[in-house]
Amino acid sequence: MAKGRFITFEGGEGTGKSTQIKLLSEFLTSCGIKNIASKDPGGTEIGLELRKILVTGDKDKIDPVTEALLYYADRRINLVQKVWPAMEQGTWVMNDRFADSTIAYQYYGYDKKIPLEILQQLYAMTVGSFKPDLTILLDIDPKIGLARSMEKAGHMAVKETRHESRGLEFHKRLRQGFLELAAQEPERIVVLNADKSIAELQKDIIDVVCERFKLSPCPK
Ligand SMILES: Nc1ncnc2c1ncn2[C@@H]1O[C@H](COP(=O)(O)OP(=O)(O)OP(=O)(O)O)[C@@H](O)[C@H]1O
Ligand SMILES: [Mg+2]
Repeated sequence: MAKGRFITFEGGEGTGKSTQIKLLSEFLTSCGIKNIASKDPGGTEIGLELRKILVTGDKDKIDPVTEALLYYADRRINLVQKVWPAMEQGTWVMNDRFADSTIAYQYYGYDKKIPLEILQQLYAMTVGSFKPDLTILLDIDPKIGLARSMEKAGHMAVKETRHESRGLEFHKRLRQGFLELAAQEPERIVVLNADKSIAELQKDIIDVVCERFKLSPCPK
């Protein structure tokens, strides 16, 4: 059986990752492709415990290195328990954030206070040579993304706004960081302008996925 594909969605807060993953899942299903969605952090039961630590509460409650270690613990358990077994069965996995987010947040966001090598070593130790088949980077002015995110958080019982609270300068560095990563790996990371309607962005994503994986003709 052919191995499933691993597609990651990246970008700052409120860029539309979760919304678009749901829509891409429906599309892949309509193409007859078995697929699941997962996320970093929180794709597994243990990961959900780590997610609570990582995305809620005071922004300074843990230092950047501890934060990176917890993100990688979460990432590893998601791969071992969920992503790799699904891919072995031929199921495609769409992951809401992956290692690019750790470099964007913990390296660029924190103004390069952690050496990049530490993050690269953590990747090698926990993920090995595995990497996404495709990464879709949703890019938007952080002012717009943060406004969307805070509006959404207003309706949530548990406020997952630890990173949102870091201020605009952090989020501008984050955006530049993601764009630098995309420039370094243009084959893997496709940048899409997320400042458009949900339906328009969905069409762009489907075009990228169909072209990358030679899916056409698709039912839609
Ligand atoms: N293209 C869009 N235009 C306007 N609003 C959008 C668009 N895409 C998503 N939204 C809305 O913005 C909010 C954030 O979207 P979503 O949760 O998909 O983003 P996200 O990237 O997953 O955010 P987070 O980083 O906070 O998880 C939601 O309320 C969603 O309905
Ligand atoms: Mg989301």
